[in-house]
Amino acid sequence: MKNHLLLCLLILFLLSETGIAGNKASYILNGTKMVDSRGNVINAHGGGFLKQGKYYYWIGENRRNGVFVSCYRSSDLINWEFRGDLLTKNSHPQLDKANIERPKIIYNSTTRQFVMWMHYEYGGDYSFARAAVAVSPDLEKPFRFIKSFRPLGNMSRDCTLYKDTDGTAYFFSSARENYDMIQYELTDDYLDIRTQIATLWPGGHREAPALFKRGNYYFIITSGCTGWAPNQAKYAFSTKITGPWSDLKDIGDKTTYKSQPTFVLPLDGNKTFSYIYVGDRWDGENYYNSTYVFLPLVFVNDSTPVLKWAPAISPNPKSGKIKLKNIIDK
Ligand code: DGJ
Repeated sequence: MKNHLLLCLLILFLLSETGIAGNKASYILNGTKMVDSRGNVINAHGGGFLKQGKYYYWIGENRRNGVFVSCYRSSDLINWEFRGDLLTKNSHPQLDKANIERPKIIYNSTTRQFVMWMHYEYGGDYSFARAAVAVSPDLEKPFRFIKSFRPLGNMSRDCTLYKDTDGTAYFFSSARENYDMIQYELTDDYLDIRTQIATLWPGGHREAPALFKRGNYYFIITSGCTGWAPNQAKYAFSTKITGPWSDLKDIGDKTTYKSQPTFVLPLDGNKTFSYIYVGDRWDGENYYNSTYVFLPLVFVNDSTPVLKWAPAISPNPKSGKIKLKNIIDK
């Protein structure tokens, strides 16, 4: 009897150490393949997050079996449920041989449409250098692909979307063979470019932009341009979304903990606000071995974020607190 009890306790301990006690994970183990509630690998690289009601949605690159963009949802940010494929090669004739990267979605409360912007390529290389737009009234259902184009004639590769508190939306993308990062304001329906706001750090060679706001400060985190290989991420801040932005400063270590930024996820909890850096740990040789990195961004003062490594994290969206788990370094 005593032995049985000890065995049960041992099994419970082992399950909690792997984070899957009670069939539910209790933390995100960084640099590993995350799986959804069906046990399938989560395909959502270069992705973005969106909170709708009690769920967080994670939308990103799939790249398997003719699927470009897939959608997952979670109420705890740890256990994810697959909800559907949003764009596939059958969604539009322009997608039959496309390569879609870094899809991001925001909601337009006037048109009641979810609007997706992404990096669009056709064929095997990166020479098209276009943005593309798709819409859907339902975040979990297939999107309608509207168009691909070069914003105001500019090349457009790595990109992100940012919806400000007043509802104005902005698109940031790497232009001029990735030499420049251009910031555009979108039209009210979010389907087009209204104007070019600025060319950020001309000649600075930045990609993988991720925007967020904390207090009175806007932040943009970007990577350098080294293909699939990780490099030192940098951040800039501004008190206005339209700039001027500060100079770029290093964040994280020399390889951003072997990751490239894709999004900063704000947790608006009842105890505190916190911010999770989400990056892709690419395996360029074998894209499908790529993994994810979720790390807390902490602030030493209003304009200085710090990114430290943690092998695993346990976010609590209700309180806004993030626990760090000290598990073997990956
Ligand atoms: C870096 C980009 O950030 C990725 O999205 C992808 O385009 C790779 N380059 C391709 O080399």
